[in-house]
Amino acid sequence: MNLTPDSKSSARSAECHRNDDERYLSIRQASRRLAGPLSAEDCAIQSMPDASPVKWHLAHTTWFFETFVLGPRQPGYLPFKPLYRVLFNSYYNAIGDRHPRPERGMLSRPLLEEVLAYRDHVDAAVLELLARRPLPNETAALIELGLQHEQQHQELILTDVKHLFSRNPLKPAYQKQWPLTPIQSRKSEWISVGAGIYEVGHSGPDFCFDNETPRHRVWLDAFRIASQPVTHGDFMEFIEDAGYRRAELWLSAGWDVATARGWQAPLYWERRDGAWWSFTLHGEAPVDPHTPICHVSFYEADAFARWAHARLPTESEWEAAAGHASLAGNFLESGALHPLALREAPGDGMLAQAFGDVWEWTRSDYGPYPGFQCSAGAVGEYNGKFMSGQYVLRGGSCATPSSHIRATYRNFFPPDARWQFSGLRLARDAE
Ligand SMILES: [Fe+2]
Repeated sequence: MNLTPDSKSSARSAECHRNDDERYLSIRQASRRLAGPLSAEDCAIQSMPDASPVKWHLAHTTWFFETFVLGPRQPGYLPFKPLYRVLFNSYYNAIGDRHPRPERGMLSRPLLEEVLAYRDHVDAAVLELLARRPLPNETAALIELGLQHEQQHQELILTDVKHLFSRNPLKPAYQKQWPLTPIQSRKSEWISVGAGIYEVGHSGPDFCFDNETPRHRVWLDAFRIASQPVTHGDFMEFIEDAGYRRAELWLSAGWDVATARGWQAPLYWERRDGAWWSFTLHGEAPVDPHTPICHVSFYEADAFARWAHARLPTESEWEAAAGHASLAGNFLESGALHPLALREAPGDGMLAQAFGDVWEWTRSDYGPYPGFQCSAGAVGEYNGKFMSGQYVLRGGSCATPSSHIRATYRNFFPPDARWQFSGLRLARDAE
């Protein structure tokens, strides 16, 4: 979180104030809209410990505003239900006890309608707070953090519902719009990036998470990076070439995980009459070879890259190469909720599909940038304490809200995670 004071905030116009209210409501309402196609029963279930019920997401994002904004900063605010402080605490030790994560799906109470009433209660109080202008900079920054947090959970709602529905033998569709687009194949090319000192990380007054700072210089040797992400068709070739059965392609830890869990293909794939099908938010569908691969772990991405006589880019290489790419892409708002085939070639030397479609695994451990400082207070637990045992992904996905992404954004997941829309782009050392 960037708590840098915005020097212009005290001089905001009435128009800006109205925009603050509208932005708050529009992001909060977007979460509820995502629950629109779901029943109360759908919203209560948890399909695995890594995923959470939709009802929990809707309550926890509300808890965030109540705990970090209203409690400390809205005089006289009364919590909706004091017991929610424990029930919807995700991982904040500074806040106190929390309900065990694997047991989030055992909460038949509160009812979904009670969680929605909780949201209404907190929204009314936040709007009241927003009306007391000018807001202290730190309060405004915490509200912004709450909105960015809400958007992160919007993506998780979709990935968690996808996993939940995939476990149901009825294979329900979250929405049915298949096929998504006419398919057009384009060939990936290598883009050369010269050696030199590059600046990476966020600077400036716009929002960023604390883990994107400070902006700093890195030395990069010359490298090449693919103009497009790896496709489902590319990955079929890896499978046909026995990629999942050749230990020499895999990191030792990856091989252990892949063999122990019986991985033979990306998550959600199924072989039927010689053809690959996968489960999507539109129900079951044939695998489209021209679309970017998704639902692979870091281990699978790394093994694929070795098979392709390439490697994953480091996160600094990715940022140096993608920093000038268009931020336009296939995000949540497109409604596709699935990676799409490339429709238009970007300009010379520009990465295609760097943003949206699929998060791209990098070879970089998720760690602190030189000079990194956690944000002060309990929200300092947001990012910093997870800097161990995870890898960085870049670029956002088809489930990411478009206003939530930027070139410096660092997502992170453990190397065996594959229920996110995670794919990869290849890199090679310079020739
Ligand atoms: Fe959260």
